[in-house]
Amino acid sequence: MKIAIGSDHVGYELKPTIIEYLKELGHEVTDFGAYSTQRTDYPIYGKKVAKEVAAGHFDRGILICGTGVGITISANKVAGIRAVVCSEPYSAELSRRHNNTNILGFGSRVIGPELAKMIVKVWLDAEFEGGRHERRVDEMDAIGNNDDQAFEAIRTSEDDKYLDHC
Ligand code: RB5
Repeated sequence: MKIAIGSDHVGYELKPTIIEYLKELGHEVTDFGAYSTQRTDYPIYGKKVAKEVAAGHFDRGILICGTGVGITISANKVAGIRAVVCSEPYSAELSRRHNNTNILGFGSRVIGPELAKMIVKVWLDAEFEGGRHERRVDEMDAIGNNDDQAFEAIRTSEDDKYLDHC
């Protein structure tokens, strides 16, 4: 997969370990900064990576800050992005299978490198299940597009792709 990665100055030190691991797994990785421990603002990198993923230039994105929270919230402001912050693998896997997340965030002050690598692997391997989750994911995207009309149309749709929605 083509993966965009970003961090702030706090996440910077964990990032090379994750980049190296992604390459070992056979992925192509582009680092969108930060490129040092000099103090900076996490929304810069959350936005950059999210825009690249939303534009379809990358299959997935990975974001790291101190807690993973600020950079993930920033990414979720971009239409088309479903970003999850995780500190354990169960939510990482389910976020793919049920929520079709396209960005994974975590905190370098919260988890160590080995747990981070485990979370990354589980998240990259898990597939979106579709089915009953399809409608909910499309509803989330309508919220992201600030499109109330589309949201209602999806919510009330009897389209075949939404029928298995229990
Ligand atoms: C930076 O001090 C810190 O706030 C940032 O890395 C992140 O934890 C924000 O959510």
